Amino acid sequence: MSGNLKIDPTRLPHHIAIIMDGNGRWAKKRGLPRVFGHKKGVQVVKEIVTECRKIGIKVLTLYAFSTENWNRPKKEVNVLMELLYNYLEDELNTMLSNNIRLNAIGDIARLPDWVRKKLEDTIKRTASNKEMVLNLALSYGGRDEIIRAVKKIIKDFESKKISINDINQELFSNYLDTKGLPDPDLIIRTSGERRLSNFLLYQAAYSELYITSVLWPDFDKKELINALYDYAKRERRFGLTSDQLVEKK
Ligand code: IPE
Ligand code: IPE
Ligand code: MG
Repeated sequence: MSGNLKIDPTRLPHHIAIIMDGNGRWAKKRGLPRVFGHKKGVQVVKEIVTECRKIGIKVLTLYAFSTENWNRPKKEVNVLMELLYNYLEDELNTMLSNNIRLNAIGDIARLPDWVRKKLEDTIKRTASNKEMVLNLALSYGGRDEIIRAVKKIIKDFESKKISINDINQELFSNYLDTKGLPDPDLIIRTSGERRLSNFLLYQAAYSELYITSVLWPDFDKKELINALYDYAKRERRFGLTSDQLVEKK
């Protein structure tokens, strides 16, 4: 547990998901090319992963690249791929020494081979780590994930592995990329935009949302802790009344 955090551990989110937005605007404000924002953004990723691990967060999902981001200028996409490759290379030892398991969600097949191989290699090498899952959303879109899940379900139906009556929420979850991971308790979005931008559409059904105007390259431990204090104060009712929640305790 981080020294100065005074939150009842039972009030901490198990799974935090972050929409890391605002790199381009951060750079623009400084008269720099967008790439500089992405570079600073990677440093912040390293800091926040370390901090979440220290606090005892069990799953951290980072939205690093969306299906729509493929439509950005080719040069920017290339830089982002290079940064991802370098990040994986730089952080393998940190993941190993901190017992962090890397996972990825998204249409990974679309990544260039050299990045995909690095990613798969890092996932393999950290596979037995138990303390935290670092889940990178790469080439990820919630709609794309749902469509891919539907296709897999139909295949299994056609090959008689499942029947129509087997299809329920639990089964459906197991066909999503997030199979085996709990839904996010808290979704943080930086840079002030109030939208999900195709992030975890199915899984976010009851997630708490926290939006900060801070740009991702300026996000830090203090901002993370602010979000955690805010989350700890909330009452998650899941459709019930407040009184019902008290009765349950
Ligand atoms: C987030 O920052 C990083 C990615 C989407 C890859 P942006 O690049 O979207 O930065 P803004 O929103 O243009 O400021
Ligand atoms: C969301 O940010 C995707 C990531 C953070 C990877 P965008 O910058 O792509 O989202 P929009 O376009 O503002 O909705
Ligand atoms: Mg953006």
